[in-house]
Amino acid sequence: MRRHISNKEVVLAVTGSIAAYKACEIASRLIELNAKVTPVLTRSACELVQPATFEAITGRRAITNLFGAFASAEIEHIAVATRAHLFLVAPATANILAKAANGIADDWLSTALLATRAPILFAPAMNSNMFAHPATQANIETLLGRGCHFIEPESGRLACGTVGQGRMADPMSIIEAALPLISGDSSLAGKKVLITSGGTREPLDPVRYIGNRSSGKMGRALAIEALARGAQVTVVTGPSDVALPYGAETIRVETAMQMAAETLPRAQDANIVICAAAVADYRPEQTYEHKRKRAGQSLTLALVENPDILAQIGAAKRTGQILVGFAAETEELVANACVKLKKKNLDLIVANQVGVPESGFGVDTLNAAILDRDGQTTELPLIAKDELAQRLFDRMALLMAQ
Ligand code: C5P
Repeated sequence: MRRHISNKEVVLAVTGSIAAYKACEIASRLIELNAKVTPVLTRSACELVQPATFEAITGRRAITNLFGAFASAEIEHIAVATRAHLFLVAPATANILAKAANGIADDWLSTALLATRAPILFAPAMNSNMFAHPATQANIETLLGRGCHFIEPESGRLACGTVGQGRMADPMSIIEAALPLISGDSSLAGKKVLITSGGTREPLDPVRYIGNRSSGKMGRALAIEALARGAQVTVVTGPSDVALPYGAETIRVETAMQMAAETLPRAQDANIVICAAAVADYRPEQTYEHKRKRAGQSLTLALVENPDILAQIGAAKRTGQILVGFAAETEELVANACVKLKKKNLDLIVANQVGVPESGFGVDTLNAAILDRDGQTTELPLIAKDELAQRLFDRMALLMAQ
């Protein structure tokens, strides 16, 4: 993620919603990722949060409407608007949406929003009735029609005490939605990327299932990377606590059979298919309608084989289509992965070590090697999953250029 954002200019505009305090975390995350952040606070935002906080986090003077010579501000809004790679308005009140939709320029932010040609991302935050009001919805429609981007507010308990849609999306989701807009990388624009993620669950009865330790973290990193390169991303995921990035179409399944049913038809017109899911190879032959009781004797489960999704996609692979698999191994990492690469007709396979604490299921890092269809093997040092995702897409770019 860092590479896409490094040294990019982001205007972080904070307007007067109670969620303004969450913008501190957004600023801090952007700085962690090496972005250059110019904080802007409207007059109402200054009633809720201090410009000094944003100045300390970003190392830049916060632009407010409260002070600064008007003549220099006049120049500043054009200069900042011109060099920005993204205007991120978070939180965005009903007021700023109304002003932006109608071209009103009565303060620094609304003026700069007219002056900039950078992408604009709004993260609305307001009372649910205000959000649902036809005026606000019409303003959002207008702004969407002009190419502005939105990250929808979540439902939940709002600061005003009511429950409904209006709570600003969480800071990490906002950063993820911002990433493809900031990156300006459109190398995968118009390309469809299909990713399987997480582990499957094979039910035994209404209470128990056969599952595995997959967390879905690798699939999430792959989806973020594909979005940052401008791809249209679909993720078919098994049950997982890991949030998938805003902007990816997410299809939730439970069993291997369901994953196959959702994945196989979509694979036909995908440009890139990455099977990162830990799919159960077997499922119980019989699923009991009621919870199985203890019977005072040992129990043998009959299992039947599940479809191998990756192998089926490999068998039907079109020219130009890129197919990537993962091989989670506890031994003979590269040798086992090499067999799978050939058997399943893959372009790339990631051989990753599981069964050791720092690598594989549930953690953020992997011991891995990338093998390609031309017989090249790249052994990687212990690597973060998001960095592995970057390396993998770089390798895919080379294969696509062949
Ligand atoms: O042969 P093995 O199951 O180890 O291969 C792992 C790779 O195959 C992973 O990319 C995984 O997503 C995929 N796979 C699949 N369907 C299965 C089993 C594995 O797509 N039923």
